[in-house]
Formats: sequence, C-alpha cells, structure tokens
Amino acid sequence: MEKFVVKGGHRLTGEVVISGAKNAAVAILPAVILADTPCVIENVPSISDVTISLRILEEMGAVVTQVGKDAYRIDPTTIDKFCVPYETARKMRASYYFLGALLGKFHKARVSMPGGCPLGDRPIDQHLKAFTILGANYVIDKGVIDIKADKLTGGQIFFDMVTVGATMNAMLAAVKAEGLTVIENAAKEPHIVDLANFLNSMGANIMGAGTDVIKIRGVEHLIGTTYSVIPDQIEAGTFMVAIAATKGDAIIKNIIPKHLESITKKLEKIGVSIEQYDDSMRVWVENPLVKTNVKTAPHPGFPTDMQSQIATLLTLAQGTSIITENIWDQRFAYVDELRRMGADITVNGKVALIEGTGKLVGAPVKACDLRAGAALIIAGLAATGVTEIEDIHHIERGYDCMEGKLRALGADIEKVEFPDKEDSKKKDGDGAEG
Ligand code: EPU
Repeated sequence: MEKFVVKGGHRLTGEVVISGAKNAAVAILPAVILADTPCVIENVPSISDVTISLRILEEMGAVVTQVGKDAYRIDPTTIDKFCVPYETARKMRASYYFLGALLGKFHKARVSMPGGCPLGDRPIDQHLKAFTILGANYVIDKGVIDIKADKLTGGQIFFDMVTVGATMNAMLAAVKAEGLTVIENAAKEPHIVDLANFLNSMGANIMGAGTDVIKIRGVEHLIGTTYSVIPDQIEAGTFMVAIAATKGDAIIKNIIPKHLESITKKLEKIGVSIEQYDDSMRVWVENPLVKTNVKTAPHPGFPTDMQSQIATLLTLAQGTSIITENIWDQRFAYVDELRRMGADITVNGKVALIEGTGKLVGAPVKACDLRAGAALIIAGLAATGVTEIEDIHHIERGYDCMEGKLRALGADIEKVEFPDKEDSKKKDGDGAEG
C-alpha cells in the first residue's frame, strides 16, 4: 500500500499546470461510443477514473490507442458488447455514463449499479426517469440495470433537483433520439457545457448547455472529431487553496478563470490575493486570513467538491466560519481527521462550525474520499511537523500527479510504500465516488 508523507511548513512558489477536468473526461470518454468513426480526445488527465473508463471501452471492444502524453484515439466502431460488469462499475461512480451512451447508440445497455458510496445516498432515479421519457424500459435485477428501447424519441424532461449526472446522461441518450428533447432544471457546470461542445463538434444539435434549459434536436449520425477536455476547475481550486494555506505565491496555468469565479470570490473574502490573466492566475497571501461563511450549491454557486479544501483553509483563518453543505449528506467525514491535526470544528447535520485556530499539527490521517484526501494534503502542507495520509487511492482517482505538482512548487511530499495490513484490493477502488 502507499501513503503520502508530508512535511509541512514550506511555502508553495513557482508555477503549476492544471490537467484536464475529471468530471468532463469521465463523460466524454463514454460519449465517444456515439460516434460512427474514431475520435481523438486530448487533455485527458492521468487519473485512475480515466484508466477505468478506457478499460471499460476496451472491454466492450473499442480500440484505444494512446497517441500523446494526455491524448487517446478511440475507435468505437468495433464495440460488440454492451455491458459494464459489477467488477468494473463498482470502481467508479461515473460508470453510469455508459448507460446513456450505450442506450443512445445501440438502444440497449446492461450496467451494474456503482457500489458503496462515501458521500451519502446517491440515487440515480433522475437518470432513469430521463431514459424512460425518451422511450426506454428498464429492469434492475441483482444490482444490474438492464435497459432497452425499440426507438428513442425526444421528450420533455424536468429534473426534480439540479443533477450533473442525470443532465449529462439525458444528453447522451437524447442526442440521436428522433425529434426534440427539452431538459429543464438542467445542471450548468462547466463539464455540462464541455460535453455539449464535444457532442456538437461531432454533429449533434444541442442548444442552451450552461443554462437551465437544454434543447437537443436528435441527429442520425455523429462523426468522430479531435477534442480537448477543459481544464479541471476543482484541481485549480485545490491548488489555489494549497498556495493560500502555505502563504505561498504561485502561478496556476491552463485554467478558465470564469469557471473559478465562486472560488476566487470566497478566497478573496478570506484575504487571499488573486490576479487573473486569460488562462492563468497568480495566487498569493499578504494579509491575515479571516473567517467567512460558505454554502455549497450547484454551479455557479460554490462547488461541493471544494468544500473540504476551503474548510481546511478556514481552520487557519482568524474567527469563526460556518460551512453549509447543501449537496451531499455525508461530506464532513474528513472533519474527524482534521481534528486529529488540531482543528476545532463542530458538525451539526449539514452545518460545520469552524473556530479558526491559526495552526494545524501533523498527524497520521486517512483520506475518506477524493476531496477529503486533497484537504488533508493541504492541511499537511500548512501544518507543523509530519502528516502521513493513508488511503491515497481516493486521491489518485481524481488528481493527476498531485504530489509531483506540489513538489515542483516546493512542497516536501513523498509517496511511500508501507506493508498492507488489511485488504490490498481496496487500492483498486472499493467504494465508488467522484
Ligand atoms: N440526485 C438524486 N437523484 C439522481 C441524481 C442525483 O436524488 O438521480 C441527488 C444527489 O443525491 C445529490 C444531488 O442530486 O444530492 C446532486 O447530485 P448530482 O447528480 O449532481 O451528482 P453526481 O452527478 O453523482 C457529480 C460529480 C461529483 C460532484 C457532484 C455535484 C461526477 C462524476 N461526479 O456527481 O463529483 O460532487 O456532481 O457537483 O461528475 C468529485 O469530483 O469529488 C465528486 C464527488
């Protein structure tokens, strides 16, 4: 097994380049299935969720060739299997995008429901509602969703809540359906727009992505293209917080500043200095960090995927901050670990009260999910002494070489092997998330 060993107290300085967005890549890779000819997807992050997505495509019969450091050519024309078995589906939450893509192209799919989940209840009722409106029928037997449609026909889909996954899945299923599909109460995240842009670049007719009404006029054929995934908004936000937590001064490159607006605004309120350029920004700290309140919300609100990182920064700020988590039921699991490092945080339901103590002390901790793991790395960078972070497979699902990028910024962080006490299979992804 591997863990990160972080020796705190080093200011982050220099430059870091952000990778492609995980939550865009894990939808765009399955979307390739819809193409009638091969695609080249660029700016794909090197993370285990991508490795799993590519493996699923290969297991279905697609031919995947790496054509550059972050680029893959995928030929979907040889796909002759239409299922994602439990063994693979359980490793990655986003395996549900194969349902929409297979249904959209072949009118059938068998995908196992993702397994245990560390963020609370994660139903997919809205995904299934959208597929049904488009004309599909499904049965769920022994955890496997078996879905079929004689024909897909456009329809009116109104989501009961704003959901990223169901919005993307509805787009995948509707893009080749006959007639017009209207998705209302759609999610507006940058990765929704990225998926729409990718599909449109292949000949789809999707309008309104990025607003809460998306209109899709079905087309018969999608032709493979070369497409570059957008930069990862959450990776960028995580580095912004890491730089601030170490009172560093660094440039973050390959970003879309507009996607980072809610994060930038909060950090400025806390006292972080930020200067934005076209596709980069400088982040530094010259004033004392001060309390603020954060409420997570769908885009363009403050992203839940940045909640644990900003909470960590607020433990280092002066005053009492309040964090309200509005998306997931169980996204405060990292608080116990931060408390081991001296944080003073009280959680009551979806609200966490953070008394800024101004300091953290290194301790052995465990990453309980992807963003919690990132938060613990930030805590370790800012803490005095040594922090050892176990269960780093969670972090490697979604951050492309995080320790390498941090080392280049001057952090003292190493990945070290240690004897596997319990179940080494865990490393391969029990408890899908992301
Ligand atoms: N929901 C339902 N029914 C559904 C779908 C969602 O009740 O059919 C509820 C969820 O339980 C949740 C809310 O709606 O309370 C929003 O869920 P959403 O569908 O937006 O989440 P997701 O698509 O499963 C994606 C990201 C998450 C991110 C959320 C919110 C991917 C692969 N995952 O999840 O990313 O937290 O959107 O922005 O895109 C991460 O990257 O660390 C991560 C967890």
